[in-house]
Amino acid sequence: MNEFTPIIEQWYEAHRRELPWRDTKDPYRIWVSEIILQQTQVKQGYDYYLRFIERFPDVQTLAEADEDEVLNYWQGLGYYSRARNMHAAAQSMNGTFPTTYEGVRALKGVGDYTAAAICSFAYGMPLAVVDGNVYRVLARYAGIDTPIDSTAGVKLFREMAEEFLDRQQPALYNQAIMDFGALQCTPGRPQCEACPLQDTCAAFREGRVEGLPVKQHKTQQTNRYFHYFLIRQGDHTYITKRTGKDIWKNLYELPLVETERPTTDDPTEVFSQLRSSIGTTAELDIRLLRQGVKHVLSHRIIWADFYEVRVPEDAALSLGDKYLKVSLKALDDYAFPVLVNNFLRKYL
Ligand code: ADE
Ligand code: SF4
Repeated sequence: MNEFTPIIEQWYEAHRRELPWRDTKDPYRIWVSEIILQQTQVKQGYDYYLRFIERFPDVQTLAEADEDEVLNYWQGLGYYSRARNMHAAAQSMNGTFPTTYEGVRALKGVGDYTAAAICSFAYGMPLAVVDGNVYRVLARYAGIDTPIDSTAGVKLFREMAEEFLDRQQPALYNQAIMDFGALQCTPGRPQCEACPLQDTCAAFREGRVEGLPVKQHKTQQTNRYFHYFLIRQGDHTYITKRTGKDIWKNLYELPLVETERPTTDDPTEVFSQLRSSIGTTAELDIRLLRQGVKHVLSHRIIWADFYEVRVPEDAALSLGDKYLKVSLKALDDYAFPVLVNNFLRKYL
């Protein structure tokens, strides 16, 4: 065997994280964990997984549940299409989780990576997982600067992943390389000094760790975090026109608070900014309607959260004269950015 595989596996035995979905071979549970972990860190997803499994312990229970309830259990995790796809997939299963790779890969919301993870963990199939962690570890270890997002790179890294795969213990190997990328050979500050692969790592030997992996499409995009408020006062709401030479000039939008960072864990600051901009110190009845809606523009990615704020009909708000109070029915008369428009269409 190559040197890479046993070293990674030994490293894993010593450093592995104890995670609830690693104690089981139940494909349903592994599927749930992998869907959660697609866009969520282990730290954040952990408790969601436990609550989800407690309420929906098997395919049948999930299939029979109301979509609203499933979404409720997802509340706060974002990317709600994951939950909707899972619910639909559970309903397509007739009570039994698929047992072939093709069957698993055909589930709504399951791509190559997730299918390989489920089938190797649950069924011991010799399939190598290839995700961002794997690209990074392999590119550095072998010192390869072929862009990971090029056709040649995708092929090359897949072949390497297959070559290093431990076909006797695919589950062990896949978990090992995943954790190695997440904990040891990390994007920002890899722990090369204490790395068991140091002696054979090409990037380390050649001082190229920082520059690998290479991506050909450098995303020049900056992230912005928008929090929109649909204020409902009877059958009226408030809108304002965007001015200035930022994005969406002259389009209308809902009252907005922008933050430097996502506020998934703690929207307190957002709410207090909202209170001061609508001129009230009263407790507001605020409900999160959509979270983490991704809107890609040429140079930026907007991540938008939408909230509904209910205020009494007779409350005097002082939003300032930049804001129009309009009837909900009249919203069609104003032009909104697609991001806002999609939201309004869905919720009104
Ligand atoms: N990320 C994706 N799948 C994972 C898993 N099974 N364990 C830890 N992190 C993961
Ligand atoms: Fe990654 Fe550094 Fe280890 Fe090479 S030596 S595998 S770059 S952590």
